[in-house]
Amino acid sequence: MPERLRIVGGARLRGEVKVCGAKNSALKLMAAALLAQGKTTIRNVPDIADVATMAELLTRLGCTVVRSPHEVSIDVPEKPGHRADYDLVRKMRASINVLGPLVARIGEAEVALPGGDAIGSRGLDFHIKGLEALGAKAHNEHGYVMASAPGGLVGTELFLDFPSVGATENLLTAAVLAKGITTIENAAREPDLVDLGEFLISMGAKIEGLGTPTLVIHGVSQLHPTTHSTISDRIVTGTWAFAAAMTRGDITIHGGRAQDLEIPLEKLTSAGAIITSTADGIRVRMENRPQSIDVATLPYPGFPTDLQPMVISLNAIADGNAIVTENVFEGRFMFVNELIRLGAHINVDGHHASIRGVEQLSGAPVAATDIRAGAGLVLAGLVSEGVTVVEDSFHIDRGYPHFAEQLQSLGADITRESVN
Ligand code: UD1
Repeated sequence: MPERLRIVGGARLRGEVKVCGAKNSALKLMAAALLAQGKTTIRNVPDIADVATMAELLTRLGCTVVRSPHEVSIDVPEKPGHRADYDLVRKMRASINVLGPLVARIGEAEVALPGGDAIGSRGLDFHIKGLEALGAKAHNEHGYVMASAPGGLVGTELFLDFPSVGATENLLTAAVLAKGITTIENAAREPDLVDLGEFLISMGAKIEGLGTPTLVIHGVSQLHPTTHSTISDRIVTGTWAFAAAMTRGDITIHGGRAQDLEIPLEKLTSAGAIITSTADGIRVRMENRPQSIDVATLPYPGFPTDLQPMVISLNAIADGNAIVTENVFEGRFMFVNELIRLGAHINVDGHHASIRGVEQLSGAPVAATDIRAGAGLVLAGLVSEGVTVVEDSFHIDRGYPHFAEQLQSLGADITRESVN
């Protein structure tokens, strides 16, 4: 049954949370398991809806997938299927991550085009151009990317116009089984991508330059299954850090990796937060009203676009004026209209949002448009006077395991309500 979240604002969040493995890594690791016949086990997997969607996709491709809350094992057949259907791809864009592994391993893939979504039109041109440069034939037909490379892929020099995370992942997972050497220039450097690279290396791949803009991949003829533990989720960690700062709370985030969040934590410090390292994570405290902070989103190591809704929410109640510039997804300001419903003063002009902080927001019904916008609205609800209802909260459950329950444990007044 569809749900919404009902929040009564005002609580200062205090306590401890544990951060799970990263959604944006675990889903890619699951897709990359297709590269080797046999049983791969992935640990520290988040208990979220998208993992179930990827499990369903892999099952339809002929894999036997067994899930427990934090572990998934994928037994890959000798010859998996090659088609990722539209009903799954439209639910979860990460489904396109099967493209590279399938073309590399079985020489054939048909993957539905994901189309636009609530954060902007997200092309696949880099993915397709890169696969073609590796020797695949690819074209669009009836809403699907049809790619084939019956004779196998051949290593080459690739250059990405923008360090796209998804394109780097698809090309990396294709190149590991290509003949010869592939270089990817202007590759994405996100920690999730480093995790994927380390996973591939543990399967027998030969990759140099992980975490730098140049990846060098020496193709091998075969990979073997592996066991791997997913890197912790920096976006979930960052969300808790913003939650502590906005509610003037005190949250200890077990498993949070400060090294993956240098710029967001620096920004929070300039907003007035006190951030300290703990034995296994970080602690974020805030005494006073936050000071406003200017932010420009950029590919890693820049400020992550996935934390942009949180920084807009923080600025909405901060002392001062701020400008937030979105450089990664042009459609990502859509949720700003929802924040305005809560009384935020925000003007959007192209890819800049200017925000004048108010003392307090005022609870109202709002709707989540995507995972991160949904989390940003919940944080705004926590600092609003009165009741905020966040509709379409399934978006949040796609990325944040047990978000409402974890917030309750920190003292928030938040409940799930069924929508009839
Ligand atoms: C991933 C993350 C998402 C995050 C984003 C940027 C997952 C499941 N999602 O998305 O949460 O916000 O990285 O950190 O991991 N582009 C093209 N052509 C292409 C590919 C991308 O023009 O072929 C453009 C996109 O439209 C966008 C930009 O490049 O403007 C960045 O996209 P990309 O890095 O590919 O994001 P995703 O991998 O889709």
